[in-house]
Amino acid sequence: MTLSEAIETLKTTLDPRKFLQSLERAADFYSESDSEQDSDSGDDSGNGPSDSSSGSQSGDSFKGSGAAVKTAALSNGTTPLIKLTDVWKIYQMGEVEFAALKGIDLEIYEGEFVVVLGPSGSGKSTLMNLLGCLDLPSRGAVFLQDRDISELDESELARIRGQMIGFIFQSFNLIPTLGTLENVTLPLEFQEMDPGKARRRAEYLLDIVGLSDKKKNLPSQLSGGQRQRVAIARSLAVNPPVILADEPTGNLDSKTGNYILEFLEKLHEQEGKTIIIVTHDLELVKYATRVVYIRDGEIEKIEHAEKHAEKHAEKHAEKNEMEE
Ligand SMILES: Nc1ncnc2c1ncn2[C@@H]1O[C@H](COP(=O)(O)OP(=O)(O)OP(=O)(O)O)[C@@H](O)[C@H]1O
Ligand SMILES: [Mg+2]
Repeated sequence: MTLSEAIETLKTTLDPRKFLQSLERAADFYSESDSEQDSDSGDDSGNGPSDSSSGSQSGDSFKGSGAAVKTAALSNGTTPLIKLTDVWKIYQMGEVEFAALKGIDLEIYEGEFVVVLGPSGSGKSTLMNLLGCLDLPSRGAVFLQDRDISELDESELARIRGQMIGFIFQSFNLIPTLGTLENVTLPLEFQEMDPGKARRRAEYLLDIVGLSDKKKNLPSQLSGGQRQRVAIARSLAVNPPVILADEPTGNLDSKTGNYILEFLEKLHEQEGKTIIIVTHDLELVKYATRVVYIRDGEIEKIEHAEKHAEKHAEKHAEKNEMEE
């Protein structure tokens, strides 16, 4: 299928059927354009919160290294993708110290769908910033693919993070002066993707999230749900193996919220992406393979989710039968 045929097929608003069908085609598109992209992949995707500044780093020294990072991430199922060891985050406010995270131990493995559940103020966004290697802990260590991030220099960390993790922030973090299409294209520009190719991928992703008719709108000219969908399209732009989302449905009506979760679930099930969501919404637990309960900056308990545990057991049994 040619790209224009694909885009034609995917002319979809948020019709869930079309929306989900379109995902099935996404894998083909990615495998096509990844093989092209890997030969010229560059620096930071810029999809972190420092979007506007991270583009200043030179990508030259990192050319061609994207494939190696991804392969390493996907080939070793026993090493956690992300590991937090006795992580503390202490905010200093004048004389007063506030511990937002108190000794967090957490490992995230490839293929998991982890929901971090906790009330407002419990430390979820703080934890997300640490899991996403956007912030350094006050105490303790964060490992990204077995490498202590405090030992990486800033540009190396930005490069690995940019290729491995797509962020969907609580406050969207869209660039207010850029239109929808430009916001989605930005991480690809940081990867030094050919501008024509970057534009086609951004258009494709906007089609998937049903925003083809809003390409030129600024974030201020979009509804909250539409902004969230731009943020999702942007998080997928570099096709990272891990998606980290902070309250992805927080500002949405329940119908749009469900579409977005089904979308994330398909990314998990069909493309094997590792998904981490932080939320206060108990409803989201049903999508999880593991639920981490957080309260007052501490992990209260960790549960393997029933539904998925059963599903995985079935898959395992099938696999064993086939091998016998
Ligand atoms: N920069 C900061 N300085 C001081 N305190 C902070 C800072 N950022 C967060 N906090 C405090 O740390 C705690 C955890 O904040 P965080 O944003 O992680 O909570 P959250 O679980 O994401 O909440 P919500 O569900 O409302 O988004 C809160 O009590 C907050 O007031
Ligand atoms: Mg938060």
